[in-house]
Amino acid sequence: MSEIPLKLAVNLALDAPPSPDLVTPAEPANICFTSLINSLVEKQWFVAENYLSQELCGQLEQDLQRLHEQSLLSPAGIGRGKNHLLNEEVRGDYTHWFDGGSLAQQSYLAIMRELKNTLNRELFLGLFEYECHYALYPPGAFYKKHLDSFRGRTNRKVTTVVYLNSDWQAEDAGEMRLYHPHTNQVLLDVAPRSGTLVCFMSEDLPHEVLPTKAERRSIAGWFRCNTSLNGRIDPAL
Ligand code: OGA
Ligand code: MN
Repeated sequence: MSEIPLKLAVNLALDAPPSPDLVTPAEPANICFTSLINSLVEKQWFVAENYLSQELCGQLEQDLQRLHEQSLLSPAGIGRGKNHLLNEEVRGDYTHWFDGGSLAQQSYLAIMRELKNTLNRELFLGLFEYECHYALYPPGAFYKKHLDSFRGRTNRKVTTVVYLNSDWQAEDAGEMRLYHPHTNQVLLDVAPRSGTLVCFMSEDLPHEVLPTKAERRSIAGWFRCNTSLNGRIDPAL
């Protein structure tokens, strides 16, 4: 199947009403959206530990393991469309785009729909769709410092990264490092522990994945807005 129908399936899943079987966030009442939103406005990023329940993280981890065993992960590339290149000097992870094909993925997409609604309500960001992939970093893999979106060139507005590593130890390294948009100072290192969500403005925050010593699993995703370039709708690649 080509990528576009898969992405369309995800968009549909994001707009559909949640099914009663879906797993909901850990303790929604414990998540203080006001402080998350304030952090995003003031600092352009926020980190929320235990944003996803350990139960859902376990189901997502199993889903990723199943895809891995079925050889459905591909070496990640950089760039979009015909500029897509494999480059092991830049990143060494293996990815699989969500297709909404498991209950775990649908639960995750329902949680991201809630986040999208909150961001749109509070910040008028006009986010309209979400794309995301699983990523598996084998020991030794990294992702060099980069921006997820170049101003005016793509329509990725807000990045989300969620981690699925239940037994993560400090010596496993593999932190995500966020940099200040102007001074390039290191802002913080985030340990990729299960349930942690990192969210930041895609056009502004350079970041990298430091070399990992243990197998490292994440879901990287992007909320997009519907922009058009030169009168042409930016394709959902
Ligand atoms: C990405 C990315 C960070 C992470 O996929 O663009 O920056 O911690 N991922 O997995
Ligand atoms: Mn990135």
